[in-house]
Order: sequence, then C-alpha cells, then structure tokens
Amino acid sequence: MIEETRFYDPNEQVSDEKEFSLRPKVLDDFIGQDNLRRNLSVFIKAAKHRNESLEHVLFYGPPGLGKTSLANIIANEMDGHIKITSGPAIERPGDLAAILTNLKQGDILFIDEIHRLNRSVEEVLYPAMEDFELDIVIGKGPAARSIRLNLESFTLVGATTRAGALSAPLRDRFGIIEKFEFYDATELSKIVSRSAHLLGTSICKESATLIAQASRGTPRIANRILKRVRDWSQVYASGDITKDNVTASLDALGIDAMGIDQNDRRYLETIIHKFSGGPVGVDTLAASMSEESETLEDVIEPYLLQKGFLDRTAKGRMATPLGYEYMGVQVAQPNQRALF
Ligand SMILES: Nc1ncnc2c1ncn2[C@@H]1O[C@H](COP(=O)(O)OP(=O)(O)O)[C@@H](O)[C@H]1O
Ligand SMILES: [Mg+2]
Repeated sequence: MIEETRFYDPNEQVSDEKEFSLRPKVLDDFIGQDNLRRNLSVFIKAAKHRNESLEHVLFYGPPGLGKTSLANIIANEMDGHIKITSGPAIERPGDLAAILTNLKQGDILFIDEIHRLNRSVEEVLYPAMEDFELDIVIGKGPAARSIRLNLESFTLVGATTRAGALSAPLRDRFGIIEKFEFYDATELSKIVSRSAHLLGTSICKESATLIAQASRGTPRIANRILKRVRDWSQVYASGDITKDNVTASLDALGIDAMGIDQNDRRYLETIIHKFSGGPVGVDTLAASMSEESETLEDVIEPYLLQKGFLDRTAKGRMATPLGYEYMGVQVAQPNQRALF
C-alpha cells in the first residue's frame, strides 16, 4: 500500500480549517477556469437582478481543482448561507428532509461527492429540486399517508469527480452543469504567489513557476507543495523561498519537475512490467497495485493521460511510447518474440 507515503491522498477529507485561509472568497479572487467563471458571473448577476435564487449547479472534474471553493464563492456572491454536506453523509431520506426544511430562501446546499447519494435519498431530492416540495410519508401500512411540505427556494450545488456516475434524472435537474479543467502553469503560478502572500512568505517568480509546473494542473497540490517548500526553506535556509529550495524539496518529496510522483511511476511500472504494456483492465491493475480503481481513475490516470504517457482503449489501459520513454524502458515490439 502506498497510503503512508502518498503525498496526495484523494480520500482524505480536507478539513475546512486547513484550507480555509487559502480559499478564494469572491469570484474575482478565483484564478483560472475562465469560461466557467464568466458563465457563472453572468448567471449570478442575472439571478440577483431578478431577485431569484440561482439555478441548481453541478460541478464536475478531478479533485483539488476548486469545486468546493467555488460553491462557497457562489454563496458569498448570492449573499446566502451555505450548508455543506456530502453524498455518503446523508444516509436516510429523513436526514435529507431535515436539512432541506432548515434551508432559508436563497441558501446554498452543497452536496460533495453527490454521485454517492443512495437512491432512496436521491428520490427525495427530485421534487425538492424541481418544485421546492418535499413529500413525507407518515405512518405505516394501510394507514400511511403522504403529506407535501413547501420548501424555501434554495440552490443545490453538487460536486462530483465523475459526472458519468450520476443518474440521468438527477443530472437533468441541474440547470447549470460545468466542468473543471486542469490549470495551466501560468494560472497555477498566480495561485502559488497569492497563497504565499496569504501565508506571509515571499516567493520569487521563478520559484512560483517551478512549483506550478510540478503541481499536475491542480491548485490543491500547488498549495501543498508550497507549504512543504516553505517548511524546507525555514529549516534549511534563511526562510526565503529560492529556486534551489524548491528543487531540493521537490526532490525530497519524490516529485519530478513535471509533477510525476512515485505513485505515477509505480502505476506505469506495473503496466509495463507486469502486463507487458497493456491493454489491462483498470480493476486488474488496481488489484495488482493494492489500490482502489476509483483512486487510479480519479487521481493517477487523468494526469498521465494528459501527459500522453497512457492510453485508455476499449480493451484497457496501455502505456504509450512516451510512457515507456519516461520510464527509460524500450518499447516492446510485437515481432520481437520471434528473436527468442
Ligand atoms: N481557482 C483557484 N484560485 C485559487 N485557489 C484555488 C483555486 N482553486 C482551488 N484553489 C485552492 O485549492 C484548494 C482545493 O480546492 P477545492 O475547492 O477544495 O477543490 P475541490 O473541491 O475541487 O476538490 C483550495 O483550498 C484553494 O485554496
Ligand atoms: Mg471539494
């Protein structure tokens, strides 16, 4: 298991306290995702102008790209309160009913990992989203009757790493569906500089760029590397973040200049050496690495795909020639067998 050594654990519940100080609070502080930000800004202005609550919003994309941050920003911009929960935390329909009946006009209900809501809870959500109504069953057996409660008009913001895992009826009830893209190095470098400023450290442009390039397009990783580099600089140097300090701490973390870490290398190694480069199914791969397939799919694969080291085919995962080259292994030719 790589749990202990994993620098970036997707299953970790990131506490709000930990990330609170670095989270952007208003739309203008949110860097990157230009299309999404522009769209949202229009929708928010229009809704406020009409004095209505914003339509339900679904955010999807890999972890750490700013979905939770943007949900909080929506609440700020709409001058509403936000209630934060997650799919697995809402176990019974009654739990959701309790949350819904406590929402006030214009409030935001944020459900993280919304693809993990169970079906009976999801069914309570349909009329709530569509008509702001709640059906409650009272009593049991033949005496049972259903009563309908009116809810205040609220905005549901759902976030998921896998839009495909959402049921169609749920997906259809969102008026705004937006995808989060990986950030480019320029955007990440701005995020790093902003975070350094908030943390009260100074950082030069070159150092911010180095961190940005090693952050796999992900602000959460950029912030984490920044914090480790800050520690490193404090202990081993005068406290200022220099290029040398960045390089040394990345080295110590086992992250290379383009953000590939030991888990990615282990993944590529497994495909290349255990499965002759693939194709291999993700479940087989996960079992052989003692990982969950969801972790591979959400955290490791998107970046390797983006780097061109990995190919996802109908038959399974395959290492590309670029992936072989990165690992310093020669590509196996199909006709090479004849030689032995
Ligand atoms: N666009 C952004 N600008 C600045 N910081 C960001 C941005 N997106 C994310 N972050 C930072 O990255 C961290 C992780 O973002 P978060 O919203 O929790 O991601 P997600 O919910 O998609 O997993 C936040 O603490 C925030 O500081
Ligand atoms: Mg989140």
